[in-house]
Amino acid sequence: MKAFSFKFLSWLSLGVVLLLTGCERPPMDSVQHGFRGTGMVEIYNPRLVEAKAENNAVPFALPAAPTDGPRAGQVYKNVQVLGGISSAQFTRLMVSMASWVAPKEGCIYCHNPVNFADDSKYTKVVARRMIQMTQHINADWSNHVADTGVTCYTCHRGNNIPQQVWFKRDATPPGSNFMGDKSGQNEPAASVGLSSLPNDPFTPFLLGADTIRVNGTTALPSGNRHSIKQAEWTYGLMTHMSSSLGVNCTYCHNTRSFSSWEGNPPQRATAWYGIRMVRDLNLQYLEPLTSTFPHERLGETGDVAKVFCATCHQGVYKPLNGAKMAQDFPELKSVTSGQSDTKVAKR
Ligand code: HEC
Ligand code: HEC
Ligand code: HEC
Ligand code: HEC
Repeated sequence: MKAFSFKFLSWLSLGVVLLLTGCERPPMDSVQHGFRGTGMVEIYNPRLVEAKAENNAVPFALPAAPTDGPRAGQVYKNVQVLGGISSAQFTRLMVSMASWVAPKEGCIYCHNPVNFADDSKYTKVVARRMIQMTQHINADWSNHVADTGVTCYTCHRGNNIPQQVWFKRDATPPGSNFMGDKSGQNEPAASVGLSSLPNDPFTPFLLGADTIRVNGTTALPSGNRHSIKQAEWTYGLMTHMSSSLGVNCTYCHNTRSFSSWEGNPPQRATAWYGIRMVRDLNLQYLEPLTSTFPHERLGETGDVAKVFCATCHQGVYKPLNGAKMAQDFPELKSVTSGQSDTKVAKR
């Protein structure tokens, strides 16, 4: 009997240890985020915060270049977007872009070394569109990025391909198992916190414009197509948003009701704009580039890599911990036209 209970206890303690290996070790820090008594606290693991600080350090910027002198469009042959900035600013931006996106390869990652005006490398064609996308984010989405803004580095961080991108999942073909269409459930993916939720909540919400909602708002079915799948997608997206920003649900929601907007921190509105911004970037910039990319850059369904919250945020609630890196690059802060006589870069 004694031997039995000893055996039993040791198995039990082994079980407990195994169960807890999925948890983060204490001590944790907590910060009150809402009114007292509402339970709105953020719980942080200080060790993870420390590790993220390194990844979110900002590279130094080259000294500002003079904005007068000949325009890039007058000096060079094939400048379609940045023609209106001074050639000194233009050169400084090229050097910076190389360090943000292709630090190992340098200029020749995008350029034919014999003729810099040549557009034969796909990377140059993509980069031109990326310049326009960056300008568009800073100029037209200030209700999300404020005057902090973004540069190529916010997403790329010295990599040719940003480390955090998403592709459509190859959906289980109906009839291939007893479950029918599982919609990517029980196939844990890091993007949804390794949960058993559908692993691609991004196609419906960050490419499509399905309503992100759990409860129907009307009693009768008209206009009330709120299925279980839609609820699960919603939780999948929310899990992605929380983990991308390194925050708990109450960073945006009050503790009484997830659907109510009353008593929510302002961050929820910022996030609402963020969702619309990401949709816009994927639809207007990334998807149309699909045929420009070589096959090996595309996903298993032949789609282009796309942006989600983690692409910029990378674990912190303000990318690069809120550093205003874009301030040093006024040419990326407003939409420029290729004409060399255009006055550019009004801040
Ligand atoms: C990430 C891709 C990328 C990298 C790296 C890059 N460039 Fe460029 N470069 C471009 C794009 C895109 C244009 C066209 C811009 C436009 O149309 O407004 C361009 C245009 C130019 C032009 C104008 C050529 C002409 O006559 O039309 C010069 C010169 C140039 N780059 C020099 C450089 C130098 C020098 C480096 C390395 C320090 C460099 N670039 C690195 C993407 C890149
Ligand atoms: C909002 C995030 C974001 C920003 C900002 C951004 N990029 Fe990108 N970039 C992407 C994504 C997503 C891809 C597609 C990745 C892939 O090819 O799989 C990409 C791809 C590229 C590629 C192709 C790389 C390859 O090897 O296929 C180049 C070149 C590039 N970007 C240059 C730039 C430049 C230059 C800037 C700044 C002017 C910039 N990007 C800003 C998200 C961004
Ligand atoms: C960064 C801010 C943010 C975080 C963090 C966040 N949410 Fe949300 N949540 C939103 C926004 C914004 C919406 C509304 C989206 C829309 O309508 O486009 C929303 C909508 C929802 C809804 C739908 C409500 C309805 O009307 O049916 C639920 C449920 C929800 N969130 C749950 C969660 C849970 C659970 C977590 C934590 C895992 C979480 N949220 C984390 C911002 C956030
Ligand atoms: C193109 C890059 C980019 C993408 C993609 C992006 N964000 Fe942001 N986000 C930013 C920047 C930059 C800021 C800082 C703005 C500021 O300084 O107030 C920010 C700020 C925020 C804030 C406010 C944080 C605070 O404490 O004030 C929230 C919430 C947020 N983002 C949520 C999201 C969500 C949710 C997504 C995905 C749907 C997302 N973001 C996608 C760049 C991005």
